Amino acid sequence: MTNKRLKVIGLLLLCTVCGHTQENMNRFIDQLMSRMTLDEKIGQLNLCVEGGFVAGENKGETSANSKEERIAHGEIGGLFGMRGAGRIREWQRIAVEKSRLKIPLLFGLDIIHGYDVTFPIPLALASTWDMEMIEKVARVSALEASSDGVCWAFSPMVDICRDARWGRIAESAGEDPYLGAQIAKAWVKGYQTDNNLSRRDNIMACVKHFALYGAAESGRDYNTVDMSRQRAFNEYMLPYQAAIEQGVGSVMASFNEFEGIPATGNKYLMDEVLRKLWKFNGLLVSDYTGVMEMKNHGVGDELTVSALALQAGINMDMCSEYYSLFLKEALHKGLITEKDIDTNCRYVLEAKYKLGLFEDPYRYCDENLAKKRLGKATTVDLARQAAQKSIVLLKNEHQLLPLQKNMHIALIGPMGARKNDMIGTWGGWSEIVKPISLFEGLEAAVIPHGGSVTYAEGSWLLDDKKLEETIVGSNMGFTTSNGNIHKVHEREEAEMIAEALEKAREADVVIAALGENINMNGEGTSRSNPSIPEPQKHLLKALFQTGKPIVLVTFTGRPLVLSWEEKHIPAILNAWFPGVAAGNALADIIFGDVNPCGKLTVSFPRNVGQIPIYYNHKNTGRPVDSDFAPYVRFKSNYIDTPNAPLYPFGYGLSYTNFEYSNVTLSTNQMRKGDVVTASINIRNTGKRKGKETVQLYIHDVYSTSTRPVMELKGFKQVELEPDESTSVEFQISEDMLKYYNHQLEYVCEPGDFEIMIGPDTRNVKKSVITFK
Ligand code: BGC
Repeated sequence: MTNKRLKVIGLLLLCTVCGHTQENMNRFIDQLMSRMTLDEKIGQLNLCVEGGFVAGENKGETSANSKEERIAHGEIGGLFGMRGAGRIREWQRIAVEKSRLKIPLLFGLDIIHGYDVTFPIPLALASTWDMEMIEKVARVSALEASSDGVCWAFSPMVDICRDARWGRIAESAGEDPYLGAQIAKAWVKGYQTDNNLSRRDNIMACVKHFALYGAAESGRDYNTVDMSRQRAFNEYMLPYQAAIEQGVGSVMASFNEFEGIPATGNKYLMDEVLRKLWKFNGLLVSDYTGVMEMKNHGVGDELTVSALALQAGINMDMCSEYYSLFLKEALHKGLITEKDIDTNCRYVLEAKYKLGLFEDPYRYCDENLAKKRLGKATTVDLARQAAQKSIVLLKNEHQLLPLQKNMHIALIGPMGARKNDMIGTWGGWSEIVKPISLFEGLEAAVIPHGGSVTYAEGSWLLDDKKLEETIVGSNMGFTTSNGNIHKVHEREEAEMIAEALEKAREADVVIAALGENINMNGEGTSRSNPSIPEPQKHLLKALFQTGKPIVLVTFTGRPLVLSWEEKHIPAILNAWFPGVAAGNALADIIFGDVNPCGKLTVSFPRNVGQIPIYYNHKNTGRPVDSDFAPYVRFKSNYIDTPNAPLYPFGYGLSYTNFEYSNVTLSTNQMRKGDVVTASINIRNTGKRKGKETVQLYIHDVYSTSTRPVMELKGFKQVELEPDESTSVEFQISEDMLKYYNHQLEYVCEPGDFEIMIGPDTRNVKKSVITFK
């Protein structure tokens, strides 16, 4: 054959792989699968952790053979939990040089809020209400990861959560399905630009955890979830669906059960809803040991649960090794068919095809590019901007904030000088960029202006020494690189407080940096009492006694109960976990270089007894007149606390003030197909330029099924100079009035709809539209 003909054949072959039509893909995979043995097909369904990575108890080491040998035998379809172009290239080399069919591996990672550069935690990013910012965060994470070997992000996590006790609320966008859906789309857009998985600088997103994981009873992780399908569709499903409509490449099943069947083996969720109703045609993966855990749930032995998961359509078994160990036997016993295995295997191969891995298995491993892309100064700067926008000013009595840069500041509290703690759950894996502590950020800001910062730790993290040791030692992700090693309870509490008080007395102002540490939020970190831990509270109360002005900065991955603090402390800044630029971003806000604009996407309870608490609740048959009404017998309220949360959904202060006019409607009558414009005028009445998030809520007054008292349906951000005003308009369409009725039909029923616009859920201006 001539060289030219060889070249043509080569090109044709390549085109079969890279010509990304469905037809080409099907032909390629048909050919490949016709050559695969049963074992090789089962191997593709097996997703393993590389090692040295912790997100569960089981490392899946069920075989005497090493990972290298198993990959060479075609027993593994993908690896996760590692980073580094060189390291990943070596694993890939084993797959494509040593295995019989040379099928490349998938490489996944929990890129939850940044790949190399860690951004604020997702709950904080949600508080920016800035979809462009979230998309940018996903985009730079994709650029970093896709050069460093990783082609698959286990993100976005879109579980709606209304329970401050649940540690994973930190990974979520909060309690609202509409906002959650916008955020889900922004993440997917950023990871998968142009909805094109074959782009070399894209990575495959994985929306999780399907479904309803955030509704775990009593906020205890992995706990039972039970709710009606109607509730699920109206209040929880929207963000997953939005991610799918945005073209997300993969979905991860959740750990919880739904309707008595674990999600991992739940055919209704995985097949009827995901595949048939929403037409999802991507990769479906279990969560970490989810298949195995069905045994603990009590729905069957090893063979049964493996068969259940496979037939529900879980394509890859993450870390259980149950597919590897039991599918063959399940097949021989007639519990599954070879077609079941084929169907699941095809999805795995399709994901690899779409990512271009058959074309070039090393396409995401580019050490030189990684060197250029990882930890860039511009990315760190973006992390700083994201953090500035995510910090929520909860209270600012007598305009204590912003502070002057020539002040003498006493920074007190265990979170004041910590670095790794600033990143929160999942992250901080960079070898290049180290987090900046609040102390460092403050010093950098004040020293050039003649100010000073003294620091005292002031208290232990937790009362219980043993527990504190466990907490600081229980890192997620890479156990070595985000190590948080520090000794605990080295000094007496009284001695620490005395030192703190001395420093406080000498200062102009106290900044108290308190709250949770890195390991008190995220997976497996439920808290029955989500408040500032006791020893830190003692410290705060002692500081309060000095009479010095105090700015409380709370580090937290969840809404904290801050009732005492709200009553006594003049200024409260909720920092969340701000990421690598923590100290600088906080200093930007504290000294007023940046005006805070973050708004809560979760309600902060007054006390634990109010949980679950969320703004979009139903009215009940015996509502109180207002959320603040005093106790009334035989009404739906508490003897000992108002119904209102301490800080409501949508709330967040600024250093300036915004005044809202009344709502104007283009018409108050609406028919099918009509669009009504609702507008409102907003004026900056303060002395600083500021950004405001204007929120639109709707309430269906009468409907065949009960509806929430208000539901977010739109939001817009405006930035106004002092005294500047602007009109903000929302287009209200029939679609925004729809809901899932009792038969799960998505309908808009005739009647009145209250239209509410305001700066948060507590302060809205109302008008009414009648839909005929
Ligand atoms: C978590 C997932 C995560 C997975 C892999 C699990 O424990 O629930 O969110 O993607 O581990 O690390």
